[in-house]
Amino acid sequence: MSQEKVTVRGLRDVAAADSKLSFVDPKGLLYYLGYNIDNLVENVIYAEVAYLLVHQRLPKKQELEDFRSQLFLEMNLPEPIIESIKNSPKNAHPMSILRTEVSHLAEFDPDGNEFSPDANLRRATRLIAKVPTIVATLYRSRLNRSTPEPKKEFDFAKNFLYMFKGEEPDDNETRVIHRFMILHADHGFNASTFAARVTASTNSDIYSAVTSAIGTLKGPLHGGASEKVMDMLDDINLEEEVEEYIDGLLEQNKKIMGFGHRMYKAQDPRTKHLRGIVEDFCHQDRTSDLYNKCISIENIVYERKKIYPNVDFYAAVAMDALGVPKDFFPLFFASSRISGWVAHILEQYDDAVLLRPASNYIGELGRVFVPINQR
Ligand code: SDX
Repeated sequence: MSQEKVTVRGLRDVAAADSKLSFVDPKGLLYYLGYNIDNLVENVIYAEVAYLLVHQRLPKKQELEDFRSQLFLEMNLPEPIIESIKNSPKNAHPMSILRTEVSHLAEFDPDGNEFSPDANLRRATRLIAKVPTIVATLYRSRLNRSTPEPKKEFDFAKNFLYMFKGEEPDDNETRVIHRFMILHADHGFNASTFAARVTASTNSDIYSAVTSAIGTLKGPLHGGASEKVMDMLDDINLEEEVEEYIDGLLEQNKKIMGFGHRMYKAQDPRTKHLRGIVEDFCHQDRTSDLYNKCISIENIVYERKKIYPNVDFYAAVAMDALGVPKDFFPLFFASSRISGWVAHILEQYDDAVLLRPASNYIGELGRVFVPINQR
């Protein structure tokens, strides 16, 4: 037997590689390329963050204008993709359709099989624009409505919300979608990003790597949590019932969706911003009611388990306030995280090392083979 390897269940606290893209500080801080998100979220637009992640620096004014123009030109889909979305089963989870259509997009990539830094950078920009376009097109097709063409005068994030809802977002909604997408853009080696990097580490194509990421994000322990948060909030009729409801889940050893985090030992730094976004919508009765339930849940879960809300908790109410149906919550997460995913894929291509851990074999050895007709 080869020498014993260290088995770290869940790879907890294992650094699988070096990365410059984002630092998740367990003390409750998050940096994108060294910029604290608290300084970014109020001062830049989402396109600047996407540029920052992909090019590893903030853009100059003209560079940002050029990038926004590229994104605008890429907010379209090949006709066969649109047809495939329209013909997709209405009862399939939207994340399944997103996963399929990103994979399908690979067949129409203008750069074909070229595997060069320039071609991959073009694909990265293409995907940052096309993933939200697929999300908007899918939602509109489920409403049996057309998807509006993006408007040149709108910024990328505003165009995404416009194409999704079919009406011009107001100033508050525009501020919210920018902040929402900035806060969701990147987050170290979270499971979906790591899945993308494992795929990219074999020099597989960027579409395969993003497809791996989408399939991983879909899980309720990761990006699928926000939809489960809304299920929980809809399940609790009155704020007064919160304590009994939460205690019931904990007695069954169930996880409270939207709480806890592998990395943070303090508050998730994104939570205060997302809670603030929800507060901006509390003039809406439903949002105010959901917000009050959230505050009660937050207090009770901390009292019982000393754990905090993660990004998915208030994000769920923010998306609800924007009029997004809960089965599309993980797709809004993906519409932003695509910029982090492609940035990590490009970084992994540069790192050029196969991500292939060992495993601690605990099965039997030396079993005697018996042919099937003697078993
Ligand atoms: C995201 O990694 C990222 O960066 C992800 C993300 C990103 O931006 O990409 O931040 C986005 O995915 C956020 C997480 C969304 N998922 C959920 O909200 C699902 C609920 N959360 C849990 O399943 C859990 O907190 C995880 C999966 C997020 C983290 O799991 P860990 O690190 O494996 O922690 P654990 O399950 O071992 O829990 C440690 C302790 C346990 O208590 P004990 O059994 O030791 O007494 O904390 C408890 C757990 O029971 N605990 C919870 C809990 N989360 C942890 N108890 C109740 N409810 C919870 N949600």
